Amino acid sequence: MAKTEPPLALVTGAQRGIGDAIGCALSQAGYDVVVADIDTTHSGRELASRWDTTQRVESLECDVAELAQVEALFEQVHAIFHRSPDCLVNNAAVQVWSSLLDLSVEDWTRTLNVNLTGTFLMIQQFARYRQRAQGDGVIINIGSGCNQLAFPNLVSYGASKGGIEMLTKTAALELGSLGIRVNCIAPGAIETERTREETAAYAQSWSALTPLQRVGEVNDVADAVVALASDAMRFVSGQTLNVDGGLFSRAAWPGEY
Ligand SMILES: NC(=O)c1ccc[n+]([C@@H]2O[C@H](COP(=O)([O-])OP(=O)(O)OC[C@H]3O[C@@H](n4cnc5c(N)ncnc54)[C@H](O)[C@@H]3O)[C@@H](O)[C@H]2O)c1
Repeated sequence: MAKTEPPLALVTGAQRGIGDAIGCALSQAGYDVVVADIDTTHSGRELASRWDTTQRVESLECDVAELAQVEALFEQVHAIFHRSPDCLVNNAAVQVWSSLLDLSVEDWTRTLNVNLTGTFLMIQQFARYRQRAQGDGVIINIGSGCNQLAFPNLVSYGASKGGIEMLTKTAALELGSLGIRVNCIAPGAIETERTREETAAYAQSWSALTPLQRVGEVNDVADAVVALASDAMRFVSGQTLNVDGGLFSRAAWPGEY
């Protein structure tokens, strides 16, 4: 009997943080995984060992904001695996803290290029390869509370994530006929190396604001990605799922309630 190949997932920005946990969870769910990141500190072999998986893991360098690099990435993936990815997770992002008045046009442009244009370029290449392979597929974009809520001093990040909200819906409309589902996961406050460095009392301060009374863990997001990618969610497309312990359901209200 011919051996069937495992599904193949491509995860951007998966060298660390939430992306690392997503790659790990997908590999433990039976996917071969390609990690695409500007940082290639950890080889595929090292990631597979860290993730304690027997699935194949490849680490490839790619700046998702650069069309030529995104095209080269998909060519490389095809050359290595002789198939195109079944699942794409657009997780890579950058964040610039600045008031609107002080934000430089370079920082604005870089944030929009990586977070929004990068997601568009990856979706377009993924869908073209799926169309050629006549296969269906799953795309999950990682958004944020900023998809729908304004946070001060995060103007470029907020604009990029707001764009991801609408890009998700439009891609779901246009790619539905190819059998490609497109959804977004909006994490709440998640403790990572980055957020711990940014704020010393990160876990404590966000736990106090979160209805489930704890800070998010990277696996909260990673497990939701695996669930949303699974066949159990086969009729779900164009949606944003907040994985936030209830954080973004809280309205501003004077006093305690
Ligand atoms: N941590 C949180 O609390 C939180 C909350 C809401 C949303 N998110 C979203 O989750 C995702 C991951 O966040 P994180 O906290 O793990 O971030 P992180 O900064 O720890 O990791 C981001 C990864 O993306 C890579 N990357 C950056 N620019 C890239 C580019 N141009 N091309 C390819 N890779 C690139 C980095 O090298 C890094 O590995 C992001 O989309 C972020 O907006 C995070």
